[in-house]
Amino acid sequence: MTQRVDESYVSSDHEVVTAAITSRRSIRAFLPTPVDLELVNELLRIAGTAPSGSNIQPWQVHVVAGATRDKLAAAMLAAHQAGVPSAREYHYYPKEWRSPYIDRRRATGWGLYGHLGIRKGDHEATSRQLGRNYEFFGAPVALFFVIDRDMEAGSWLDYGMFIQSIMIAARGYGLHTCPQAALANYPDIVREHLGIGNDKLIVCGLSIGYADPDDPVNEFRPQRLPLEAYVTHHID
Ligand SMILES: Cc1cc2nc3c(=O)[nH]c(=O)nc-3n(C[C@H](O)[C@H](O)[C@H](O)COP(=O)(O)O)c2cc1C
Repeated sequence: MTQRVDESYVSSDHEVVTAAITSRRSIRAFLPTPVDLELVNELLRIAGTAPSGSNIQPWQVHVVAGATRDKLAAAMLAAHQAGVPSAREYHYYPKEWRSPYIDRRRATGWGLYGHLGIRKGDHEATSRQLGRNYEFFGAPVALFFVIDRDMEAGSWLDYGMFIQSIMIAARGYGLHTCPQAALANYPDIVREHLGIGNDKLIVCGLSIGYADPDDPVNEFRPQRLPLEAYVTHHID
């Protein structure tokens, strides 16, 4: 039997692909170094090849930089500082937290704040760190992902693949990212600044830029489960 060979495959590809995937991490301090917007378009073109059920490609992206970025960041941060509660329009997490998810969530949250020297109960420092979300952690470019309100769970599955593709492609150009559900906390502010209609739901945002290698926040590495914890083999 002759084997079909993918002509575009070269033997060293796995190292490059693996490094692009495993070097992605959530960066929470970016350098002010500008990001070429043509490069951002290229990342979006690459990610646009992501799979989607029946190829319906439900993603719609708003690229935010310059004065619009600054104004939007200021408006969201002001809302956060005024104590305006999140008005995110969908449930990200289970309504009732339970083990093991609550334990993993705590380990990550407390791990990050502990790493920054923020003690449990220090609401001011915690709120300040949370507020950094709205300033895109200093990144010069942010993406906002929106979806038509009538789309169902399958399209959200598609959307995750699209967003992960952007993050992986970014690594190929030395860029880092942080996916942020926090950027969907004030949907009306985002709608107003970006001219987005009420027929769209704000899914989340993504900060893009060059990581600040000297900021300790970027050293935080939340642990992952061992393979046995999430894989069941049926191989008899
Ligand atoms: C859809 C999505 C939304 C997220 N929202 C936020 C956020 O609002 N703020 C934040 O600091 N991190 C956010 N994260 C990052 C997660 O905390 C992070 O992916 C997780 O702790 C694993 O760490 P790593 O990305 O560095 O591997 C989000 C991640 C995803 C996938």
